[in-house]
Amino acid sequence: MRLDVVSIFPDYLAPLDLSLIGKARRDGLLDLRVHDLRDFTHDRHRTVDDTPYGGGAGMVMKPEPWGEALDQLANAADSRPVLIVPGPGGTPFSQAMARELADESHLVFACGRYEGIDERVYEHARKRYDVRVVSLGDYVLNGGEVAVLAIVEAVARLLPGVIGNAASLVEESHEDGLLEYPVYTKPEHWQGLSVPTVLLSGDHGKIAAWRHEQRLQRTAERRPDLLSAPAAASPEQLQISV
Ligand code: ADE
Repeated sequence: MRLDVVSIFPDYLAPLDLSLIGKARRDGLLDLRVHDLRDFTHDRHRTVDDTPYGGGAGMVMKPEPWGEALDQLANAADSRPVLIVPGPGGTPFSQAMARELADESHLVFACGRYEGIDERVYEHARKRYDVRVVSLGDYVLNGGEVAVLAIVEAVARLLPGVIGNAASLVEESHEDGLLEYPVYTKPEHWQGLSVPTVLLSGDHGKIAAWRHEQRLQRTAERRPDLLSAPAAASPEQLQISV
């Protein structure tokens, strides 16, 4: 998969060199390139923002550097890329969206700062890109970079070969509408707390049933909204024998 990230703080994306994403890049599974928006300016001060028409607080990102950066990336693209612009006013990011994006061959991320990017940039980009404004949640970050770190990680880990143990993707929170069951490892007793005995029983049917019950309880407690959503899975759908 090809990924391009445009930002005025390219160093913010340095964590994408680490851990499994870094390894996937080194293994050639991800072709991820970070670009400095200021390289697409032509004035001495490398200006990327200006005051808003109509007045109001803060600054707005100028259209010209964005237009030039996005045109250049579209010109170099083999297919029509998806342009993702993180912002609190976007469609909520979800595991379902991560799965959709993992099927794409080229994602371009535009990291806005200040009060946002001149609206004409979106209109212009729609000629060459499928444009999606995406929100991490109902809170405000200082810019799109942190959101890009989260979105890239959620998408990249779904690509074949990025996660060593693909089975670990199957029973994760949000893959089937329920949260994950609690997990334990050795030692069996720690700080006066014991591992639930069912997990030591060796009875795989009982363990699967206990885990499913834990998932339902957890989801009811922490995310009751998920249980009323149509995708809440039954043990049959999960192929768990109870
Ligand atoms: N940029 C600023 N706030 C954001 C949010 N909540 N999600 C994604 N990008 C953002």
